[in-house]
Amino acid sequence: MTRDLVSGGQQIHAPDDLKSLLEEIHQQAMKITEGHVANYIPALAEVDPELCGLTLATLDGEVFNVGDTQEQFSIQSISKIFGLMLAMERLGEDLWDRVKMEPSGQAFNSIVQLEWEKGIPRNPMINAGAIVVSDVLVSRYSASKNAVLSLVRSLCGNDNVYADNIVHQSEKEHGHRNAALAHLMKSFGNIDAEVDELLDHYFWQCALTMSCENLARSFTFLANDGICPFSKKKIMSKRDSQRINALLSTSGMYDQSGEFAFTVGVPAKSGVGGGMIAVVPDFGVICSWSPRLNSYGNSARGMYMVRELANRLGLSVY
Ligand code: DON
Repeated sequence: MTRDLVSGGQQIHAPDDLKSLLEEIHQQAMKITEGHVANYIPALAEVDPELCGLTLATLDGEVFNVGDTQEQFSIQSISKIFGLMLAMERLGEDLWDRVKMEPSGQAFNSIVQLEWEKGIPRNPMINAGAIVVSDVLVSRYSASKNAVLSLVRSLCGNDNVYADNIVHQSEKEHGHRNAALAHLMKSFGNIDAEVDELLDHYFWQCALTMSCENLARSFTFLANDGICPFSKKKIMSKRDSQRINALLSTSGMYDQSGEFAFTVGVPAKSGVGGGMIAVVPDFGVICSWSPRLNSYGNSARGMYMVRELANRLGLSVY
């Protein structure tokens, strides 16, 4: 293992000890029945609320899976990281004139702040920010969906990533709030593309489905200064991967980001499909998935599992 781990005063030596710890935490999490499956996107309300997976992918190439880690689920806002990676690459520093890097202190789909702040979203992890990022992608790529899909497939090293058409259509039909955000930003001149076209990209991206294991593998480069530990490929510069981790630390868990930093202490991103990834620099990536959400839109069991694992292993970066 890449670093010394201690749990309950005991040094963890063997991968088996780590696997047992994950199993114990997963078992405890299964007792949690708090929260509700997201239903503002009707297709998401169909998912079995009892499903629960926990993956840990370490930088030395080990992957520990407990529970439903091979099920495909809707990654929703976790996809905002993939979009952001491509927009950072295409637009460079100019991106930060169109979207800021401050926590919003508001719900992920809030509109109020956007008018006061003249159509410039607080960060790329709230819906408004991800919609600006989608605008960059549809304006700067001839096939923006293909660009995202090939990025994600190359990051996880297989083709088990696809957009769920039912979720995509469901969001299109019910995404009035996102449409309002896009139109408001267009009125301020912060959107170039046609609103319908960029929303189609945004909803498609949110409808990507992946497994816990694939998500954990995809983001290991963020724990490794931009280098994928499996393929050894340079995915991005160390500075850009530090910047993404900084955004995840301050805004990745929405208006629960402060509490998450306080109680867990690693960069993380959640989605309303119930998924969550947590990046542990120089160690690896944890991915949890369980569909019931707390009032912030973060998975109730996921919060427990990631917090418990981080606390038991002393993973906080602070
Ligand atoms: O646009 C939306 O509202 C969803 N497609 C994504 C929101 C989301 O995952 C926020 N996460 N906590």
